[in-house]
Amino acid sequence: MKIPFVDLHAQYLTIKQEIDGAIAEVIAESAYIRGRHVDAFEQAWARTLGVKHCVSCANGTDAIYIALRGLRVKPGDEVITSAHSWISTSETITQAGGRVVFCDTDEETFTIDPDDIERKITPATVGIIPIHLYGQPADMDAIMAIAKRHNLWILEDCAQAHLARYKGRYVGTFGDAATFSFYPGKNLGAYGMRNCLICLNGLRHGAFSPRVMMSFWETWATLLHRESDPAVITFTISM
Ligand SMILES: Cc1ncc(COP(=O)(O)O)c(C=O)c1O
Repeated sequence: MKIPFVDLHAQYLTIKQEIDGAIAEVIAESAYIRGRHVDAFEQAWARTLGVKHCVSCANGTDAIYIALRGLRVKPGDEVITSAHSWISTSETITQAGGRVVFCDTDEETFTIDPDDIERKITPATVGIIPIHLYGQPADMDAIMAIAKRHNLWILEDCAQAHLARYKGRYVGTFGDAATFSFYPGKNLGAYGMRNCLICLNGLRHGAFSPRVMMSFWETWATLLHRESDPAVITFTISM
């Protein structure tokens, strides 16, 4: 008997009517880029998590990169993250011009080991990216305390942990920003090629004012439109 690791079709059959109806509406309205469906989803996701802002973009990798640019990572800046993740978490640090500093993982949860974060901090450290992996939240109390002590930002990579809770609170609501992936096989997957969100929680480091992000989004969208298929990416901001 063949048991697929992920059976998206079986899942689809359980909600077929709803999905077919929603897709038919999008097609009937030709609402392929932005539009009310994207707005509604961003608002619903922000409401669900209890954060102020959610912004959609092409995928979880772009989300991390955009967030790092929003946090103004510059050459020489060190960003601490877990050595155990999908490549997107670390490659985007390099892509944004920063230097990846890997930490060990906790052997129970496979998430970043806070004791090792402390050991890796140098004068060049600017932020920490904890990854909530396999639906397991990272130890946010310890990580938040370290960030506060050293004045570092926190970007939560929640690509694998939609609606996971740490001490009753949703992941993605602790740091300065958080990213999600809606790749079809994820804990909460999209129908179609990815779609993801960044939730802007805090303005502690001054980079994430909606106005700054909006102008950054527009620049980024323009660049992408020049370099790739404009249909692949949508940008909206809800305030
Ligand atoms: C932990 C983690 N971060 C980021 C990503 C990137 O998300 P995406 O595939 O939507 O670019 C993934 C995807 O597998 C992931 O598992």
